[in-house]
Amino acid sequence: MPSRVIHFLKTSNADYVSGEDISRRLNMSRAAVWKHIKQLRAQGYGIEAVPCLGYKLDHVPDKLLPQEVKFQLKTRDFGVHIFHYESIDSTMNQAFKLGLQGAEEGTLVVAESQTQGRGRQGRSWVSPSGEGVYMSLVLRPSLPVVDMPKITLMAAVSISQMVEALTGHVPHIKWPNDILVEGSKISGILTEMHAEMDRVHFLILGIGLNVNSGPATLIDSATSLQMMTGQQHSRVLVLQRLLVQLEKNYHELLHKGFASLRNEWCQRSSVLKQKVRLKDGDRLIEGVAVDLAEDGGLLIQQRDGQVVKKMSGDVLL
Ligand code: BTN
Repeated sequence: MPSRVIHFLKTSNADYVSGEDISRRLNMSRAAVWKHIKQLRAQGYGIEAVPCLGYKLDHVPDKLLPQEVKFQLKTRDFGVHIFHYESIDSTMNQAFKLGLQGAEEGTLVVAESQTQGRGRQGRSWVSPSGEGVYMSLVLRPSLPVVDMPKITLMAAVSISQMVEALTGHVPHIKWPNDILVEGSKISGILTEMHAEMDRVHFLILGIGLNVNSGPATLIDSATSLQMMTGQQHSRVLVLQRLLVQLEKNYHELLHKGFASLRNEWCQRSSVLKQKVRLKDGDRLIEGVAVDLAEDGGLLIQQRDGQVVKKMSGDVLL
């Protein structure tokens, strides 16, 4: 497999590795090595071949290729199985299909671009090639259906923590699932579920994160990691860090409960203690967002003192 060859080239201490060495160590014919080298070059890897010396890896493509994402990835389940697409309608659709086919927990679908990337409330998610991380993760949580909003909130906390660790900027979470940096959206989360009344078959956690996008492709005053920091970021490293953070928090949610994640969410929230207007379909609710309920709902105290709990909608600050 080409991924074994690339792993070998990456982990070899020598500058050049001979075809014979690769063939012997990976137990494949010289012809197979050469075939894999050609495939890797077609994927965008720069592999120099010097007679008598052998092969040298010059550069890796800036793509979310499975072998790149898996390389030294420190997760247990997330990203063990990766499906990568150059272009796809939406990673959500593909992940859902895989979920129906029995894909394992942590199966990841990533794409360089999406032609019909979608967001919450029927909105679209602009997904230009190579500028962001567009991913959908298949999850099979052993939680009741009513607990599913906690997964979205857990993901919002994870993205926020990862962006902070990477950039030093502290993002805020706009309920339920927008990640903002200084008021500009950098990431959004979409969760879709296959469930019966009392049982979740699987859940698809979709995340769009603007990484190297510039003003030309960012809409509605959105921002990106590049805009925040003034430098390009490796989307592979960003995705790896995100997977690690997501898996850590997901396990915490499953095994220790929501309390500490809820706490973290509240500290990172841009809506709590603020006057908000919440639009849910045709309904508009105005008041102060007083708390996050145990089940992930937003508690809004209206002018008459009544507190209502909302599980869906769009918050306008
Ligand atoms: C939102 O902010 O409304 C949620 C946006 C979610 C976008 C991601 S990109 C990867 C995955 N595929 C999609 O079509 N949508 C999600």
